[in-house]
Amino acid sequence: MDLTDAKIVVIGGAGLVGSHIVDQLTLEPVREIIVYDNFVRGTRANLEQAIKDPRVRVVEASMLDRETLRRELHGAAGVFLLASLWLGECVNDPRSAWEVNVMGSWNVVEACRDLGIQRIVYSSSASVYGNALYTPMTEEHPFNNRTTYGATKIAIEQMFRAIYEQHKLPFVGYRYMNIYGPRMDYKGTYVSVIMKVLDKIFAGEPPVIYGDGTQVYDFIYVSDVAEANILGMKSDCADEFFNIGSGVGTSINELVDILLELTGSKLKPTYLPQAQSFVTHRIGSTDKARDLLGFEARTPLVEGLRRLLEWRRSQLKTG
Ligand SMILES: NC(=O)c1ccc[n+]([C@@H]2O[C@H](COP(=O)([O-])OP(=O)(O)OC[C@H]3O[C@@H](n4cnc5c(N)ncnc54)[C@H](O)[C@@H]3O)[C@@H](O)[C@H]2O)c1
Repeated sequence: MDLTDAKIVVIGGAGLVGSHIVDQLTLEPVREIIVYDNFVRGTRANLEQAIKDPRVRVVEASMLDRETLRRELHGAAGVFLLASLWLGECVNDPRSAWEVNVMGSWNVVEACRDLGIQRIVYSSSASVYGNALYTPMTEEHPFNNRTTYGATKIAIEQMFRAIYEQHKLPFVGYRYMNIYGPRMDYKGTYVSVIMKVLDKIFAGEPPVIYGDGTQVYDFIYVSDVAEANILGMKSDCADEFFNIGSGVGTSINELVDILLELTGSKLKPTYLPQAQSFVTHRIGSTDKARDLLGFEARTPLVEGLRRLLEWRRSQLKTG
């Protein structure tokens, strides 16, 4: 799709990935960028740079509010759909998980169908795969998921497939691996391991590793993820799901070592038993995204973590 003079709506645009997409959209010749977010997790601070651009407009509303959603989607060419409740929230409140993730996404899909929107880039998750049966996982890897969060993502993927079959509403769906980078949540109830480890290091306390630290994940830098989204919007390919990752496995032990080194800390991690049985092994194949979208992650983990650390330190200064 050509972005020239297009109205683009970013649903969940005040969050981690969404706000980086918005930043990158301001470098494109679009006419209007609507950030549609109810701010349950996203923040105005994430949009500080972007709102200096007069083409950016922020709408504070939920995708459960169908009337406002339709009004704001009217005249749009492309939609990025990122809004979702997180893994931990879905564990604690499965009803909201189904209501927000599934019905909220349906409201978006239905409105896009009715309004003739040209293209949707949907944020799914590698959670659909559950624990890896083989690595790197291709997009054909079975849905080995055992979580409510992953179940909602699978349901929404199937929703996109079905609506494509019936109405040819063009979409691509992205199964992200573990995303990190500036603007990661460090205050809320659901904070990632990287931010928890950094908090401990800043407090001069040993970082805590749950389990033995051999769990392996595929970490991808947030600007690379945003770039994949822009490529997906520009591409002509439809009705496809893609892994979006670095293709490189890093254990939690290695991750903590890098963070200790970058901060110049001599602390040693403490090991505690893992309370919840989350996925322990996940690396995605990057071949399909490279071949069909021309996407490859370019930020090495150490460099990305260095930038994250710099940003986190700047937050400490501003409180
Ligand atoms: N960050 C990761 O590592 C990761 C990994 C896999 C998949 N994902 C998926 O990618 C997407 C973006 O992730 P993120 O890290 O930017 O998450 P995020 O929580 O930072 O962003 C999601 C945004 O959606 C907003 N939102 C939530 N419910 C809403 C509603 N009902 N109406 C409007 N806005 C609503 C939140 O306020 C937030 O700003 C999500 O769908 C997430 O499930 C993320």
